[in-house]
Amino acid sequence: IFAAVEMAPRDPILGLNEAFNADTRATKVNLGVGVYYDDNGKIPLLAAVKAAEKARLEAMPPRGYQPIEGPAAYAQAVQNLLFGAGSELAESGRVVTAEALGGTGALKIGADFLKRLNASSKVYISDPSWENHRALFESAGFVVENYPYYDAATRGVNFAAMKEFLLGLDAGSVIVLHACCHNPTGADMSDAQWAEVVEACRARGLVPFLDMAYQGFADGIDADAVAVRLFSASGLQFFVSSSFSKSFSLYGERVGALSIVTASKEEAGRVMSQLKRVIRTNYSNPPIHGGAIVAAVLSSPELRQQWEDELAGMRDRIRAMRSSLVEKLQAKGVAQDFSFVIKQRGMFSYTGLTVEQVERLKSEFGIYAVSTGRICLAALNSKNIDYVADAIAVVVKG
Ligand code: LMR
Repeated sequence: IFAAVEMAPRDPILGLNEAFNADTRATKVNLGVGVYYDDNGKIPLLAAVKAAEKARLEAMPPRGYQPIEGPAAYAQAVQNLLFGAGSELAESGRVVTAEALGGTGALKIGADFLKRLNASSKVYISDPSWENHRALFESAGFVVENYPYYDAATRGVNFAAMKEFLLGLDAGSVIVLHACCHNPTGADMSDAQWAEVVEACRARGLVPFLDMAYQGFADGIDADAVAVRLFSASGLQFFVSSSFSKSFSLYGERVGALSIVTASKEEAGRVMSQLKRVIRTNYSNPPIHGGAIVAAVLSSPELRQQWEDELAGMRDRIRAMRSSLVEKLQAKGVAQDFSFVIKQRGMFSYTGLTVEQVERLKSEFGIYAVSTGRICLAALNSKNIDYVADAIAVVVKG
């Protein structure tokens, strides 16, 4: 049966974990996957999560099946974060939200649903984008192409090229947008540019699909939701995939959501009925624990505040690592200006390191980064940053 099965390449991001785990060097550092580690190099268990988890375990709730789309309390918590507490949009009943298996799971059920809606549309992702975007939409059966996004010369967004491209697309084209903390570049659009993207989507009849895996990692919950809020105010229909992996440090619990903004409450009912069919034939209904913890934290004013404070702590520590890395590279006599690292937003820096330099980091120093030169700043800490800066200095000096 399997004689003709070829060996698949390792996943460009999660595959690095496998190689990292197999590396026996004590000094190894994993800057590959987008995971937040604390200053001791550990994945934190947030205090707000711990409190909600303790209460839940003490209550020993039964483990029945969940509704196919997940519980209503979870959907409401998600909508409050995305669209703002008590938003007109959420109140109107025009939004459907289904719990999903992380941000990836949300993209997958969204992609499968879109494929049933309009099989011949093309999907456009940013150049560059998160590696899994292309793979996900292709595996749902779409042709996936790039739209211009990153400008290596300015290390910012080539907005003129992006906008011109969007205005040339066919109606019904699906455009995948990183709502904040662009992965991998850390280069986000300004609020004014987002407003222009909204208008381009309206003008061309595009299908916007906003992916938001890092809400809270740039400036804060509401500030990072600007793109979602602009689309909300536009009256357009759109998709949002969101994730609590990073913001709640619940990676392995696979807690995310797909929200779809429709034209009316009646339309929302029909859309949800079809989305449920997609979910039922993928994994039936979501697991209970992670979503229950998130809903419990977000519906308790005290725990919500505690969580926001902890999220701010993660954000601030990443920022501190950005500045520190830049200072250390300067101090080590690296001629190249790395100050752009401070301006990039979210967990990542698109360093401009070449494939060869990334390979040297791995083979000579046990430092793992994505081959595109993306590094995860959230894996740096006060103990490993000198080692990493030394190594980068060596490989960039050639
Ligand atoms: C990443 O980009 O590293 C994260 O989103 C984790 C993943 O699933 O790839």
